[in-house]
Amino acid sequence: MLVLGGAGFFRAVVAAHRLGLFRVLAERLGLSRDEVATTLGLPPHSVTALLMTCQALGWVERDEHGGLRNAAWVGPALASTSQTFPALLEAFDQLMYGAFEHLETSLRQGTNTGLERFPGPGTTLYERLSAHPALESVFHAWMSRLSEAGLPQRLVDALTPATHVLDVGGGDGTNAVVLARAHPHLRVTVLDLPSICERVKARAADEGLADRIDARPFDLRHDELPSGADAVLFSRIFNIYGEATNQALVERSFRALPTGGRLVVFPAMVSDDDGSGPLGAAFLSLYFLNLATGEGRVYAPADYERWFAQAGFSSFSCEVDERDEAVIVGVK
Ligand SMILES: C[S@@+](CC[C@H](N)C(=O)[O-])C[C@H]1O[C@@H](n2cnc3c(N)ncnc32)[C@H](O)[C@@H]1O
Repeated sequence: MLVLGGAGFFRAVVAAHRLGLFRVLAERLGLSRDEVATTLGLPPHSVTALLMTCQALGWVERDEHGGLRNAAWVGPALASTSQTFPALLEAFDQLMYGAFEHLETSLRQGTNTGLERFPGPGTTLYERLSAHPALESVFHAWMSRLSEAGLPQRLVDALTPATHVLDVGGGDGTNAVVLARAHPHLRVTVLDLPSICERVKARAADEGLADRIDARPFDLRHDELPSGADAVLFSRIFNIYGEATNQALVERSFRALPTGGRLVVFPAMVSDDDGSGPLGAAFLSLYFLNLATGEGRVYAPADYERWFAQAGFSSFSCEVDERDEAVIVGVK
């Protein structure tokens, strides 16, 4: 049923979120179905179907008196100030799911035909979003919430010896701010597409970090990395493009770094070495093929080890946690 009903279940959860169900259940404990219906201004039989779905999925449950409440994880994720999960729901809804109608064609052609949903310049979702500022904001809200919620401490620690890091494909500057705050002597140069660089500069100024965070337009498909930095970071970049681009990025990083400089890659997710999953890696691989670029996917630790060795890095470490998130570090 999770496969057959998946699209419907997803729509139900998005609707429950937008209609305020999780917020109301967080604010008022032990409500009955009719009280939920009155509070949300919905017909009772609509609420019956919605609550049945949310309970079947394990997002809503009954307390010991039979009243309704959010499952323990839902309150912090959906009703808190961090807004992490809402940003994900909006991104999956507004960016991914319409495009999934094109998946069979994308699989046949081996390219991202889902991009037809977003007319504009370029051949990747990132370039197309520059013609859709509201959707570009949805995308970067998703990325920046992920970063705020989950930039792993071991990634921050991996940059402790660095004085100047190139944050390649750094996005709206959320990671740069986290890193600059964690390491008061660190300079961060974000390299990203031109429309994103403007966001980074505004963000750095807002945070009072304009003296240590700057941004330069860059195309990671062909530009050489500027020299002078002693660390290079790729956060959530290496799933975007194909193997040849990744190999070239590792080689260009090696060329730009001094001896002892470090390359830190946070993919964020890695697949099993035998390519059998996990589910998140499978979904993201479909997303990169069908929509984002038509060539990326989630790679295995063994792929990274091969690229780093071929480029000449003398040390390689890859730590994978229980969420399949990996922090990969190479030293030149
Ligand atoms: C998945 S986001 C990751 C953002 C950020 N590093 C993070 O960890 O949240 C991918 C970023 O890569 C940038 N990007 C994609 N293709 C690019 C290209 N060809 N050249 C430069 N940046 C690119 C996008 O603009 C976006 O900011």
